[in-house]
Amino acid sequence: MSPYFISIIHTTQHASLSVAILCYNIGSMKTQSLPAVQLPHVLDFISHSLAQTERIGQRLGEYMHAGDVVLLLGNVGVGKTHLVKGIARGLGSPDLVTSPSFVLINEYQADLQHASLRIYHVDLYRIDDPAELTSIGLEEIWNDQGVCLIEWAERAQDWLPNDHLAIHMQHLSETKRVLRFVPRGERYQQLVEAFKGTTFG
Ligand SMILES: Nc1ncnc2c1ncn2[C@@H]1O[C@H](COP(=O)(O)OP(=O)(O)OP(=O)(O)O)[C@@H](O)[C@H]1O
Ligand SMILES: [Mg+2]
Repeated sequence: MSPYFISIIHTTQHASLSVAILCYNIGSMKTQSLPAVQLPHVLDFISHSLAQTERIGQRLGEYMHAGDVVLLLGNVGVGKTHLVKGIARGLGSPDLVTSPSFVLINEYQADLQHASLRIYHVDLYRIDDPAELTSIGLEEIWNDQGVCLIEWAERAQDWLPNDHLAIHMQHLSETKRVLRFVPRGERYQQLVEAFKGTTFG
């Protein structure tokens, strides 16, 4: 078992195959919200606890660069904000990470080792129509060369940058969550490979 006590379900060139293996391993889990996509470098695994979800985020944050965009997708209470907490910690931010549900965007700062990057923590839960996104300046944020972490990215539909890392989260039990990393674009494939190499390698 890895030092992070994470179970990898399967890593495959074909996410649809991965869905089938998820079904096999986790009989009771509903898979309909996991997209049956055909993308390389998809990574599925289980977090067994809140602390572990934060450690996963922390490890990912350690590899993040200026301009990175991460979409966090999944139901209420699945752990998106706690994953963001971990990412901010991985970027060396001392700032308190809280849910931005009411203000839509929180801003934190990475440490010097991470070029004091601005970390934008966005929550689109309250967005009913993607047209509203122009008024909150989302595009300016991901063009700003900070790090942009977007909860409820589903709400933005196809309004988001083509290249990104999507993290799909699902409840498995009260304390367990399935995470699926789906990178789009070369930069995010590299990010997932770096994360995988040190976390599971
Ligand atoms: N393995 C786990 N990973 C993450 N959270 C967990 C885990 N096990 C239990 N939890 C609990 O699930 C909840 C996750 O809350 P969090 O605010 O991170 O969810 P969220 O996805 O951001 O919700 P929302 O959609 O309301 O923003 C917390 O109460 C946390 O203690
Ligand atoms: Mg949240």
